[in-house]
Amino acid sequence: MVLVAWVLSYLIGSISFSYLIAKKVAGIDIRAYGSGNAGATNTLRVLGKGPGIAVLILDALKGLAAMGITHLMTGDPAAYAVAGLFVIAGHNWPIYFGFRGGKGIATTLGVVLGFSPVAFLIAAVLAVLVIAITRYVSLGSLVLVTAIPISLYLLDKPISFFWTSLVIALFAYVRHYNNIRNLLAGTERKLGDKSNRKL
Ligand code: G3P
Repeated sequence: MVLVAWVLSYLIGSISFSYLIAKKVAGIDIRAYGSGNAGATNTLRVLGKGPGIAVLILDALKGLAAMGITHLMTGDPAAYAVAGLFVIAGHNWPIYFGFRGGKGIATTLGVVLGFSPVAFLIAAVLAVLVIAITRYVSLGSLVLVTAIPISLYLLDKPISFFWTSLVIALFAYVRHYNNIRNLLAGTERKLGDKSNRKL
């Protein structure tokens, strides 16, 4: 049962809403524009607020859905914690789209909401503050994924949530390799920059 739930989680994560919405709204492959990432930030950058927010919400709902389904199917906190990993893996490496997906941040928001609404609030508020001050979404994303395991640990949540969120943070750091390089070089795109040209 648990394996079925994890496979389902991966398949749900693989639904790339940024790809689907960009195709529908503008007839483009979002991965060929802006940062080349199939995610909410790049959709916002290339197509504007409406599509960007839609992708953010839908990608977050994927995370919550995978956790909910696994919870219903298994009732085991460790099993739905691991489902969080599978849904983010699906988002990052989607089976339907040549394994070229996003960086997993919006989906992580849905997953952490399933772990603990308080941890979600702490991490989201910190990330929004960092983005508001620096206008680097990637930096906010990295602060978010770092704050999640710390918050879960301090809030005394099941240890499986803590370890899973550490792996989620690792995924995010790996996926943000180019962003980290650009941040260090001072060439990272800022929120509102119009660098949305075709790659
Ligand atoms: O969630 C992704 C964000 O942290 C960075 O996106 O498109 O600027 O690489 P992007």
